[in-house]
Amino acid sequence: MRNDRPFRLGVLGSGKGSNFVAIAEACAAGRIPAQVGLVISDVPDAGILSQAQTRGIPQTFLAPGKYRTKLDEAAEQAYAGALQEAGVDLVILAGFMRILKGGFLQAFAGRVINIHPSLLPSFPGLAAWRQALEYGVKVTGCTVHFVDQGVDTGPIIAQQTVPVLDGDTADTLHQRIQAAEWQLYPECVAALARGQVIVRGRQTVAGP
Ligand code: GAR
Repeated sequence: MRNDRPFRLGVLGSGKGSNFVAIAEACAAGRIPAQVGLVISDVPDAGILSQAQTRGIPQTFLAPGKYRTKLDEAAEQAYAGALQEAGVDLVILAGFMRILKGGFLQAFAGRVINIHPSLLPSFPGLAAWRQALEYGVKVTGCTVHFVDQGVDTGPIIAQQTVPVLDGDTADTLHQRIQAAEWQLYPECVAALARGQVIVRGRQTVAGP
């Protein structure tokens, strides 16, 4: 609780929103001591928006601006403004496929987290499960980390391993990684909402 109100989450996503659903369900079940205050997507018909609508959670499309891989400056301001207006304490990237830069990260310094579908620092960037399969690793997984100015480079909060099995396709491997994501991400968000993640430089440790 902050100032006698629940810890509030803002979720950004570009895709179907299965991580958002796992987090929203964990909030509803009391496993995360928080509520989702706002969901924003850069894709007007993204599944994450309809998932939020179904659950009665405020949601909106906000135009990303003129670039393909990042939000432009005006869009960063609009996103940050909407999240601040909603009283968001922690910003959760859940399949948000654009890079966030200075202005947004300054507005939410140390309060933006992401889930990435590999064991970072291996396979940053796009379609990490496909990169892992093509490389031939036998173990991959997912990583929850703080977001900094780089691409998938911020301090790691937690990781979960996932085996790569003979005969895996990109789809079967991604499905197995997603099942791990739906466990790991809510656990990390719960720890953050309870103030149990302490950051020291690149290291994060479990607090009391
Ligand atoms: C997840 O697998 C997430 O790790 C990945 O997008 C998927 C979103 O699925 N994110 C990235 O690749 C970020 N670089 P979802 O919309 O069902 O939550």
